[in-house]
Amino acid sequence: MQRILVTGTNRGLGLEFVRQLLARGDRVIATCRHPGKALALTELAAAHPGHLHTLPLDLASERSIAEAARETAALTDTLDALINNAGMLVSGERFGAVEHKSLVDSFAANVAGPVLLTQALIPLLEKGKSPRVLSITSRLGSIAGTTAFGTPSYAMSKAALNMATRQLAAALAPRGIIVLCASPGWVKTDMGGDNAPVTPHDSVAGLLKVLDAATKNDAGRFVDYKGASIAW
Ligand SMILES: NC(=O)c1ccc[n+]([C@@H]2O[C@H](COP(=O)([O-])OP(=O)(O)OC[C@H]3O[C@@H](n4cnc5c(N)ncnc54)[C@H](OP(=O)(O)O)[C@@H]3O)[C@@H](O)[C@H]2O)c1
Repeated sequence: MQRILVTGTNRGLGLEFVRQLLARGDRVIATCRHPGKALALTELAAAHPGHLHTLPLDLASERSIAEAARETAALTDTLDALINNAGMLVSGERFGAVEHKSLVDSFAANVAGPVLLTQALIPLLEKGKSPRVLSITSRLGSIAGTTAFGTPSYAMSKAALNMATRQLAAALAPRGIIVLCASPGWVKTDMGGDNAPVTPHDSVAGLLKVLDAATKNDAGRFVDYKGASIAW
């Protein structure tokens, strides 16, 4: 049994992470912006008494991150893993009309939030069993793989999340915490859309294998949901 905190759990991949972690007997702290409206989480909590706690967390808010870290520490002394899953994508951006707000909001939710949350949870992770931090990034954040203009706020923020992964991996290796980032594939969720070829079930099953198998040799890696390296 592991204790795992997951962000962005009211829908999409985050909800699937919670389902699969509970099904295998883990204890989950599931965060989302509005737990009161997250009916699927409420049902899962009823089906798994004592194994699922939900907490409010808006990753774009420094105060919300600090509060969620405090509430997590009140619930548990240790965390074995943190899955920085929540993310946002501004659709419809066009070259020549990229907006300040799109860039700033994307960096707040996709980079600053995961970095500050990771930092705030270090005291709990340090006490975990082979503690790991997995940040869900995207192939669109691959600088090497970028040849066309598209979803710039998202792509730039995921590239920055990839750098954050390297930075955090270096800072946390001496404390025994393994940090890596993984692309989930193109997945059928609100973000991925109906044409996506990968199901949330298969993506999350693969990502959990990556998480479980991570050793110190994987610190600072950028991989896909099957564990294969992606070019930076
Ligand atoms: N689906 C894909 O094809 C794909 C591909 C590559 C990478 N990814 C990445 O995979 C992760 C999960 O994506 P998904 O497909 O499950 O997307 P999704 O269905 O759009 O869900 C996104 C989740 O992130 C949450 N979120 C967004 N901004 C937030 C904030 N400021 N604070 C807290 N939570 C916030 C959303 O909460 P609300 O409901 O409150 O908005 C929602 O729970 C993301 O990091 C995404 O970038 C997805």
